[in-house]
Amino acid sequence: MAFIEAKDLTKHFRIKQGIGGKTAILKAVDEVSFEVGKDSVFSIVGESGCGKSTLARMLIRLLDPSGGKVMFEGNDIFQLSGNDLKEFRRSVQIIFQDPYASLNPRMRVYTTLSEPLKIHGMVSKDKLRDKVAELLHSVGLTPDMMNKYPHEFSGGQRQRICIARSLSLSPKLIIADEPLSALDVSIQAQIINLLQDLRKRFGLSFIFISHDLNVVHYFSDTVAVMYLGRIVELADADKLFDRPLHPYTELLLKAAPKVNVQKDVRVPSGTVSETDVPSPIDMPSGCSFHPRCPKRFDRCDNTEPALIKVDGRQVRCLLYESNKQG
Ligand SMILES: Nc1ncnc2c1ncn2[C@@H]1O[C@H](COP(=O)(O)OP(=O)(O)OP(=O)(O)O)[C@@H](O)[C@H]1O
Ligand SMILES: [Mg+2]
Repeated sequence: MAFIEAKDLTKHFRIKQGIGGKTAILKAVDEVSFEVGKDSVFSIVGESGCGKSTLARMLIRLLDPSGGKVMFEGNDIFQLSGNDLKEFRRSVQIIFQDPYASLNPRMRVYTTLSEPLKIHGMVSKDKLRDKVAELLHSVGLTPDMMNKYPHEFSGGQRQRICIARSLSLSPKLIIADEPLSALDVSIQAQIINLLQDLRKRFGLSFIFISHDLNVVHYFSDTVAVMYLGRIVELADADKLFDRPLHPYTELLLKAAPKVNVQKDVRVPSGTVSETDVPSPIDMPSGCSFHPRCPKRFDRCDNTEPALIKVDGRQVRCLLYESNKQG
């Protein structure tokens, strides 16, 4: 049994185009399936707007899907209620991109960190201060900081507070949606090392969303590459970085500078030109990547590729149809 599993997970938004315009369907996430094992890191990469955050919001039941389901420890999360739902809310936590926006500016750190503990009745009242001090310590902050407000901290420290809050309920899975992209490059390496350390110490699983492929390579076991709402390649991290199969994965890797994430202060990653990204409202026919693909051939314009197994991974590209396994 997978720890968490998405099955044909889909989110289509109905949107109005222009004033009094027609309603159109925006396919933000389209039939996405994957499994994440216990104690592992599953990363999702892809350009802005490809559906990463929409997917994350469905995985924690912040957003209802238009189709498909999410199974967590064998249970459909959208069917949970009562104590089972409360247990799910405790077990799965999320960290967002902007640590300032996700902290209440009028709350001292003590309140931010103790509130979830109180709500879930995790710690008796007389032990709250000790528990908050322990949480601060686990993310490299000091106990005296519990009396301060968010504006008194740097960006990196604020993200540490958000991480401490996500740890407060002893979760099993943390979903991190671009947790580094609002931080200075020099701070990013510290935060990723902290996440790596916490992962080992608490046996956590992660779903990690990032633009930065160097970080993804360093931190992940498995990587899913998304393009316009769909997975186009899903593979072990080492395999994917060693030899990307999908032309889109290849382009993403070419755009990322090679550096040692663990040690270095890094140059921010480049991105593939986003000028000609097709819209998820008006998808190209055939393979949705064909208008930008350097390896396209005639059939790509009108034949939609399926996600097939090749070389122990999954890839959605007509180039590999003849290599298909099982
Ligand atoms: N509530 C909504 N209503 C209509 N469209 C939405 C809504 N939320 C997201 N979208 C659209 O769905 C698509 C996917 O958005 P999403 O935020 O999931 O992308 P993303 O991969 O997280 O991008 P980024 O890297 O910029 O965070 C985009 O085209 C976005 O405009
Ligand atoms: Mg996003």
